[in-house]
Amino acid sequence: MTREDTAASESFAQRKDGGSLWGGRFEEGLAPEMVPFNLSLGIDSRLWREDIRGSIAWVRALASAQVLTSEEQTTLIDGLTHVEDRIELEGLNEAPEEDIHSVIERMLGEAVGPVAGKLHTGRSRNDQSSTGVRLYGMAAADRICVEILGLLQALQGLAKSSVDVVMPGYTHLQQAQPIRVAHWALSHVFRLLRDVERIQAAKVSAAVMPLGAGALAGCPFPVDREALRAELGFERVSENSLDAVADRDWVCDLTYGGAMIGVHLSCLAEDLAIFSSAEFGFVRLSDGFSTGSSLMPQKRNPDVAELTRGKAGRLVGNLMTMLTLLKGLFTGYNRDLQEDKEALFDTVDTLLLTLPAIAGAINTLELRPERMREGMEAELLATDLADYLVRRGVPFRTSHEVLGELVRQAEERGISLSELPLELYQKAHEAFGDDVMATFDWLASTEARDTDGGTSLRSVRKQLESVDSRLVELGLVPNF
Ligand code: ARG
Repeated sequence: MTREDTAASESFAQRKDGGSLWGGRFEEGLAPEMVPFNLSLGIDSRLWREDIRGSIAWVRALASAQVLTSEEQTTLIDGLTHVEDRIELEGLNEAPEEDIHSVIERMLGEAVGPVAGKLHTGRSRNDQSSTGVRLYGMAAADRICVEILGLLQALQGLAKSSVDVVMPGYTHLQQAQPIRVAHWALSHVFRLLRDVERIQAAKVSAAVMPLGAGALAGCPFPVDREALRAELGFERVSENSLDAVADRDWVCDLTYGGAMIGVHLSCLAEDLAIFSSAEFGFVRLSDGFSTGSSLMPQKRNPDVAELTRGKAGRLVGNLMTMLTLLKGLFTGYNRDLQEDKEALFDTVDTLLLTLPAIAGAINTLELRPERMREGMEAELLATDLADYLVRRGVPFRTSHEVLGELVRQAEERGISLSELPLELYQKAHEAFGDDVMATFDWLASTEARDTDGGTSLRSVRKQLESVDSRLVELGLVPNF
C-alpha cells in the first residue's frame, strides 16, 4: 500500500461516526436533528443481499469495461462475498450509516482496503438502490403469488366439496335467489385469479434494470448493460436514465395489486364474519382461527376475518402513500423517493401474513348446510314463480307485478309464499296451473340458471374445471 492508500483505508475505517459517502464536500457533519431524519437503514437493511448481488454484477461490468483489472475484480468480488457472509453471521451490528449501501461499502473497505473505493465508479446510489428494490420486488411478487395459490387451493377445495349444498344468495345483504355454496366460493376464486394476474403484471413492470443509469445521465464507462441485465435476471434494460432513477411506477403497480387483494380479502372476511354469527350460523370457523373473550365465556370471535378485513386499510393506504409520494415530483431523482420502500415492504409483509391465515381459516372451515336451509325464505323463489308465468307467455313486467302482489298478501297474512293457498295464486293470474307449488324447490331453482357462469350444476362444474386449468396456465400447479 502507498501512503495515500493507507490514509484512504484509515478514513474508510473512521466512517464509524455514521460517516457519509459524500464527506469531501462538507466541513461539518449532519445536525443532530438531521441524523435520525436522514436514516433509512432501519427500513432498507433488508435489501442487503440484493445490494451485494447488484454490486457483484457491477464489479464484473466495470472489469469488462476495463475500468477494473481482473485482480481488482477478484478482490472486490471476494470482498463482497465476505461481507455477505459477515452480515449473514453477525447481522449489521447497529451500523451507524444512513443506509444499507453505505454499510456494505464500509464493510467492503474493512475487508479489502482502499480498492473498495473503486466499486462505486460510474454508479450512483440512485440507480443502485432502485436496482436492489426491484430485485426484491420481483422475488416478492413470486412469493405473493404462491400465497394467493394457497388461498385459491383452499377456496377451490371448499367449492368442490359444496357443489350440492344450497344457500341463500344475497343482494343488498337481503335474500335474493338460491345459489350453490360452490358458486359463492368460486366468486372469491375468480377475484383472486385476477389478483394473480395483477401481481404478475407488477412483476413485469419491476423487471426493468436501472443499473447503469448513474445519478441521472447515464454511465461514462462502457459497461455492458445487457450483460448486467442477464446476470441479475431482469427482463429489460431501462431506456432513459433520467426516467429510470425516478421510476417507481412498478411500486404503484405492486401496491395497487396488494390493495386490490386487500379489498377482495376484506369482502371474503366480511362474508365469513357474518356467516359465522349466531344469526346466520352458516359456517363455523375452527378453534385455531377463532378467539375467545376475556370477559364473556360464551364468545367465539372470528378474529381471522376481522384482522383480514382490517389489514385492507394499510394495503390501500400504501397505494395512496405511493401515488401521493410521486405526484408533482420534479424530474430526476428526489430524496422523497426513499419513502417508497416502507410502503412496498409493508404491503408485501402484510400480504405474506394475511394470505396464509385466511387460507388456513378456509381450509378448516365447517359448513352448516342445515342452518343454510333453515335460513332460506320461500321468497327466494319469487323470481322463479315470475319465470313460471313467463314460460306460459305472460310478459315479465306483468308476472313481476303479480308476484309482488302475492308476496304482499303472504306478508299481510304472516305466512310465506309457499304457504299461500293455490286459489290465491290462480286468482292472481289464470296462467298459474296446479303444478305451481312444484316451483318451491331450491335445487330446481339453481338448475334453472344454466347459462355459463350461472349456478346450475353443469355451470358450476365448468367453472371448477376452468379454474383448475387457469391455475396450471398461470404456472401455479394445483395439487388437488
Ligand atoms: N436511501 C436512498 C434511497 O433509497 C438511496 C439513494 C440516495 N441518493 C441520494 N442521491 N441521496 O432513495
